[in-house]
Amino acid sequence: MSPFLNFIFFTIAIFFSFQFHPISSQQFVIPNANFSGNNPIANLSTAWINSGSEYRSQTSTELSAIRPILFGSTYACGFSCNGNCETYLFSVFILGGDVSFPQVVWSANRNNPVRVSATLELTSKGDLVLRDYDGRLVWSTNTAGMSVAGLNLTELGNLVLFSAENSVVWQSFDHPTDALVPGQILVSGKKLTSSVSRTNWSSDEGGFTVSMTNKGLIASIGSDPPEVYYQNLYEGTKQSKEASYAKFENGSLDLYINPYPTYPDMSIPISQANSPQYIKLGFDGHLRVFKWEGRQWNENGDIIKLIAEPCSYPMICGKYGICSDGQCSCPGTLENFRRINDRQPNLGCSQVVPLTCNNSSSNHSFLDLEDVTYFVFEPDISDIDMNSCKEACLKNCSCKAAIFRYGSHPSNGDCYLPSQIFSLMNNEYTYYNSSVSIKIQIAPNEDKEEKMKVSLGPIVGTLAGIFCASLIIGMIIFVWRRKKKVEEIEEHYLDHVSGMPARFSYQDLEIATNFFVNKLGEGGFGSIFEGSLKDGTRIAVKCLDGIGHMIKKSFVAEVETIGRIHHVNLVRLIGFCAEKSNRLLVYEYMCNGSLDKWIYSRSQETPLEWSFRRKIILDIAKGLAYLHEDCWQKIIHLDIKPQNILLDENYNAKIADFGLSKLIDRNQSGVVTTMRGTPGYLAPEWLSAVITEKVDVYSFGVVVLEILCGRKNFDQSKPEEERHLLSLFKRKAEEGRLLDLVEDMQCNGAEIEEMMQIAALCLQNDCAKRPCMSMVIRVLEGVRDVQTDFDYNNLLISHNLINTIQQVDYQGVTSLLPSVLSGPR
Ligand SMILES: *[C@@H]1O[C@H](CO)[C@@H](O)[C@H](O)[C@H]1NC(C)=O
Ligand SMILES: *[C@@H]1O[C@H](CO)[C@@H](O)[C@H](O)[C@H]1NC(C)=O
Ligand SMILES: *[C@@H]1O[C@H](CO)[C@@H](O)[C@H](O)[C@H]1NC(C)=O
Ligand SMILES: *[C@@H]1O[C@H](CO)[C@@H](O)[C@H](O)[C@H]1NC(C)=O
Ligand SMILES: *[C@@H]1O[C@H](CO)[C@@H](O)[C@H](O)[C@H]1NC(C)=O
Ligand SMILES: *[C@@H]1O[C@H](CO)[C@@H](O)[C@H](O)[C@H]1NC(C)=O
Ligand SMILES: *[C@@H]1O[C@H](CO)[C@@H](O)[C@H](O)[C@H]1NC(C)=O
Ligand SMILES: *[C@@H]1O[C@H](CO)[C@@H](O)[C@H](O)[C@H]1NC(C)=O
Ligand SMILES: *[C@@H]1O[C@H](CO)[C@@H](O)[C@H](O)[C@H]1NC(C)=O
Ligand SMILES: *[C@@H]1O[C@H](CO)[C@@H](O)[C@H](O)[C@H]1NC(C)=O
Repeated sequence: MSPFLNFIFFTIAIFFSFQFHPISSQQFVIPNANFSGNNPIANLSTAWINSGSEYRSQTSTELSAIRPILFGSTYACGFSCNGNCETYLFSVFILGGDVSFPQVVWSANRNNPVRVSATLELTSKGDLVLRDYDGRLVWSTNTAGMSVAGLNLTELGNLVLFSAENSVVWQSFDHPTDALVPGQILVSGKKLTSSVSRTNWSSDEGGFTVSMTNKGLIASIGSDPPEVYYQNLYEGTKQSKEASYAKFENGSLDLYINPYPTYPDMSIPISQANSPQYIKLGFDGHLRVFKWEGRQWNENGDIIKLIAEPCSYPMICGKYGICSDGQCSCPGTLENFRRINDRQPNLGCSQVVPLTCNNSSSNHSFLDLEDVTYFVFEPDISDIDMNSCKEACLKNCSCKAAIFRYGSHPSNGDCYLPSQIFSLMNNEYTYYNSSVSIKIQIAPNEDKEEKMKVSLGPIVGTLAGIFCASLIIGMIIFVWRRKKKVEEIEEHYLDHVSGMPARFSYQDLEIATNFFVNKLGEGGFGSIFEGSLKDGTRIAVKCLDGIGHMIKKSFVAEVETIGRIHHVNLVRLIGFCAEKSNRLLVYEYMCNGSLDKWIYSRSQETPLEWSFRRKIILDIAKGLAYLHEDCWQKIIHLDIKPQNILLDENYNAKIADFGLSKLIDRNQSGVVTTMRGTPGYLAPEWLSAVITEKVDVYSFGVVVLEILCGRKNFDQSKPEEERHLLSLFKRKAEEGRLLDLVEDMQCNGAEIEEMMQIAALCLQNDCAKRPCMSMVIRVLEGVRDVQTDFDYNNLLISHNLINTIQQVDYQGVTSLLPSVLSGPR
């Protein structure tokens, strides 16, 4: 194309792109209603030049001006600049309501900004090309010759190059920057990358990234290698060719992990909005949701919630800074580390003598920090003592610190050797006793400094006195302010419960439960009270009593694990309180109470319909399958029974109390040595072998039978030979009269009989033969046939076990036995 033609196109383009829009010179006010009438489509051979009038912001600190090119109703695209507008990005912006303060949600050239007079051109061959003022090629979609017919800014804010057949040739959604908009999908392999700072929008290469993997949503920092600071605990165990992805929906960020038809996937709640919203990965590592609220963009929740907030954010105190309650300090003395900026302690610390790595380890030593920990711990070496851990670090030049986690003996700790150090934190939040030994360079000649110190002593002393006095005053003011701020943050926290459990104060929960007046019930580990949060959310608060010292220390770590697990068939843990000796858990409130009230026919006027019962069985199976098979750590519930299955207003069943049994196990170094659970639901291997998730499968079998038969597994009101449901079940099976057991739902005979067979499979004596829960789901959903030639002699008869339990004196069992005992005394 000749320069002359080019010129013509530019002129035409400028004419078209700016003529229709009233350009108010000083105000950043864009009447939205008039945008919707505009065509968000551009034809081939169109060009736009970055000059002329622009919309200027008076108030917005982030975006200073825009020169829109295409408009939709919620989005526009064009040139934008921030700060003093020396450079511009070609970007897509999301507009607010009536008065719009656009926010950049995508840009083409964030690492390569252009200047005034840069050009964007959709060439006649279908390539979208950005050139700087001097003609230098800055960015292009490389779509020339790919039969592009035009450029469309869709309703969702996706910039699309479409073909004549209206298929997508290129789209901005495939190249996310640091933001997601509703409807956008983040597929595995793509990532959001944070900006360098509030004002520098370049992507920060050593900075924060958020991506989807088949283990869930992952947030990490650094590149050498990336260190994960947030992850949903979800392990995609299924083989699937489909990629995992996250989708931003109205009301949630839905995670599809190795999509598999029978599993409801996980969703992280976001408050619903009927106004524009977007998610942005901040330069501080937060993944915040922003929402247009009347006149401004407000933060409306944070998808990444960490338990040890704010200290577990990797850059909260900069590199090498130590975070304690949100305050930053530097490790060691001033001879080891100095603040990068004294007035901004959160910028981090630098080593006074930088580490050099060009010779042997002879010049390295360690600065030991006891009771300090790091946001990530991925052991490189296990079963090691601290000195060997440090030696291993000395031997590897890229190792920057030896992070050691004590085991049960000094010699069997774990050792992590990171090659980069972000912020450290004090140990108050973690269960493990750990220490960090930072590698430091031994200064070449120390005697010179010593002399300096001596001669300067008196003068330095006087000066230091004055300095200290002012410092102390300053500190007092700072701490006071900080305290106030922390309180505010906590307050804020309560309002935006999303994703991770919130930390409540005891006082909050006293208020929420009206001083624990309305007791809902008593569970295995404490009492449960009804309450409601300030925003009206109804909650159930469980007060754990009588937990030991070690458990107290592990409580928060454990809650962090449980709190990250979200599934529609697991009761949500909304938050917790760990204050002095109080340990409380805050759950979502389930208005229909526990399943036992609904299935034991005599206890309910109108027994639950068959369709509900079938759905409840499937729900329990799905919840268990998630705990057993989909989580990062396998979670064995250990106490599945109708009292622990709760029903919401639509009779969706959710498993409660999961993980608590495991919580109790921490003081037995992870091995279940004490009997847990409820007699009648206990699998036979409790008496001998290693406990696996198959104990839950067994309990599930018992619960299924109870649901089908509408009675307790041990019912003293029945005649002697019918008291034990399982022996009765076995007898009826042998007689081929299984349906005798069902009183009220005979008409669904075939289905019920099939379910009984599933129950039988789950109740087998040999735990290895019991199916895993995902198999149960497949049978329940009719994907697989139930095995029909089943030998009912494989069944375990539960009352034998109950009797045995009575004979064995398990210390501590009584205190753990939940309120409902089904067995004979
Ligand atoms: C849209 O533009 C027209 C003139 O072009 C103006 O009269 C009207 O007020 C505008 N609408 C809004 C909502 O600002
Ligand atoms: C783009 O091309 C179509 C069909 O060729 C035409 O109807 C439309 O007016 C053109 N749009 C612009 C903005 O030139
Ligand atoms: C542009 O995108 C919208 C969706 O926002 C779609 O309805 C429309 O058909 C697209 N136009 C073209 C020409 O592809
Ligand atoms: C923004 O950050 C990048 C990467 O750190 C740097 O190269 C660039 O110079 C910075 N830009 C400005 C304007 O400071
Ligand atoms: C999101 O959902 C809420 C509640 O269902 C609804 O009021 C709102 O209009 C929806 N927003 C969008 C953008 O669809
Ligand atoms: C050793 O490293 C330091 C700093 O990294 C550098 O200044 C010095 O030249 C290096 N020496 C050799 C011999 O490579
Ligand atoms: C590196 O170390 C070796 C012995 O440890 C020493 O002989 C050599 O001089 C050192 N080189 C430098 C550049 O320090
Ligand atoms: C040194 O540490 C780095 C990073 O921790 C690791 O990748 C590398 O394999 C280690 N080298 C040796 C020799 O162990
Ligand atoms: C951590 O364990 C080590 C070794 O057992 C001990 O020296 C240290 O005092 C412990 N720290 C705390 C805070 O318990
Ligand atoms: C550091 O190593 C170099 C070379 O091995 C040596 O000359 C120097 O004395 C060492 N410095 C100290 C403080 O050990």
